[in-house]
Amino acid sequence: MAINAIEWWKQAVVYQVYPRSFRDADGDGLGDIRGVTAGIDYLAELGIDAIWLSPFYPSELADGGYDVIDYRAVDPRLGTLDDFDELIAAAHAHYIRVIVDIVPNHTSNKHRFFQAALAAGPGSSERERYIFRPGRGEHGELPPNGWMSCFGGSAWERVEDGEWYLHLFAAEQPDLNWQHPDVREEFERTLRFWCDRGVDGFRVDVAHALAKDLTSRPLDELDQAPKQGSGNADNPLWDRPEVHEIYRSWRRIFNEYEPPRFAVAEAWVTPDHQRLYASPDELGQVFNFEFAKADWYAADFRRAIEEGLACAEDSGSTSTWVLSNHDVPRHATRYGLPQVKAKVHHQFVNDWLLRDGATYTEDRALGTKRARAALLMEMALPGSAYIYQGEELGLFEVANIPWDRLEDPQARRTCHGDALKGRDGCRVPLPWVASDMPAPAAWDGSFGDGDTASFGFSAPATGVARADKTAAPHLPQPLWFVEHAVDRLDAEPGSMLNLYRRILALRHELLTSTGDTSLTWWGADELGISAEQALEVIAYARPAAGGKTLVSITNFGAHELALPDGEVLVSSEPLTGALGQDASVWMLLG
Ligand code: GLC
Repeated sequence: MAINAIEWWKQAVVYQVYPRSFRDADGDGLGDIRGVTAGIDYLAELGIDAIWLSPFYPSELADGGYDVIDYRAVDPRLGTLDDFDELIAAAHAHYIRVIVDIVPNHTSNKHRFFQAALAAGPGSSERERYIFRPGRGEHGELPPNGWMSCFGGSAWERVEDGEWYLHLFAAEQPDLNWQHPDVREEFERTLRFWCDRGVDGFRVDVAHALAKDLTSRPLDELDQAPKQGSGNADNPLWDRPEVHEIYRSWRRIFNEYEPPRFAVAEAWVTPDHQRLYASPDELGQVFNFEFAKADWYAADFRRAIEEGLACAEDSGSTSTWVLSNHDVPRHATRYGLPQVKAKVHHQFVNDWLLRDGATYTEDRALGTKRARAALLMEMALPGSAYIYQGEELGLFEVANIPWDRLEDPQARRTCHGDALKGRDGCRVPLPWVASDMPAPAAWDGSFGDGDTASFGFSAPATGVARADKTAAPHLPQPLWFVEHAVDRLDAEPGSMLNLYRRILALRHELLTSTGDTSLTWWGADELGISAEQALEVIAYARPAAGGKTLVSITNFGAHELALPDGEVLVSSEPLTGALGQDASVWMLLG
């Protein structure tokens, strides 16, 4: 087996499927596993190497499926294990690998471990699998300390007998105690279970929180909510050194398989700590979220690329590039809003969402232009690129979902002292078929009548029993989705979808095929421009097939950029000789 078949994930394009919103094969308004299988031809044509499935396990959906009731089963509303096996077979038949999401920091409160902990009562070994503590105050009526959950409110919840349990996320997501052998065993079994079913890798949710130290100091001395990613060994909750021992033990399991499995860590830690999670004796890869956080400034992207490459080098792994995922507002929207430097990333867009998209003007043409340019900037980089479903359709955030239709717990609680509308706006079911909908009278933000149509989201798949009456999609689709439907974009040669297809095909043919991961920055000299203008340009060269060089150039600045001699392979905008603002080009030289 060739090296790149074993370590395929080091240079892969991975497509994130949020299963409840990808495609609904049985007509109940909720995307399902058969829907993903029905979409495999589409994904193969897109040119991706792997899919990552966000959780599809039984869940009460207190947090979009990240509250898992049973780690080794499929939510009956989404299908069966047989459906999953069929999906793996269909994906593998198209040379598409499958990555599943593992959520080891917390279970659902309906998980059998937590139910047993509640039944067994204080002092029991069942409670030891979680983090239960007595309360403070005369009758234990106050939480053990003042920690806040990431979704807002106290991180402690009281149970009937008076004890409190820790939940860094929703109250329905109690945190596990990773010092308990049953917890380790549960996840080792789970990893083997999915590996044995043919899964090729894992995405590890909140990977930096598993090891906690709640005993070195009295809890009420630890009253300040510790920050994620502080890189400080005193931090009792996040990024503790002991977490790495867990991942080293997982590595031993991954290496039992042929080829060895890998995992990508979701770890919001400082760049110098990211490399630990990604090292070859741990998970293999870690998410670099700097692109997803960056505003549309050349300097921010340059720093993100430099940090990503340095981390990859340090860890002996490769970097990852992410523009969007199920946790952040879609990038076509982020780039179409005014770019204002704020202390906290996404502050501006979150504020706009909170006001249902009514405060600032979302310049969609500009957002689209920049999203196209960003794709060319991203996809020639060495490492793996993670695409979030719908970005290839140029989807924008759905800002005006009625508040009573929101599902995300972020919307109901105030997080980190700020009110948030939450993450549903990027989780709306995908539009597949434009003609499925009546021509809208106005695309003013009104929503479709999901009772009759859903832009083909609820589409019959061969051999799947249908609900008697197709239900409305679980989150409402705005009528402007018609402009992003797969069949419409498929027919437009210059569409976002066709740009993604072309770029991914070129990436494979010219870059991934060489196995060479080096990158050379191009600056003022190579581009023949002033040092000042070069600050507004991101340009780099990569070795390409046939001994050639591929150069990716993105112009953020207002000054046009004369292109070097060479063949223009693809440009994000029609070229008028020079490269204009917010546009990118791929050139082949030599
Ligand atoms: C991760 C997931 C996010 C979820 C959280 C708690 O950050 O990406 O969607 O809410 O973990 O599980």
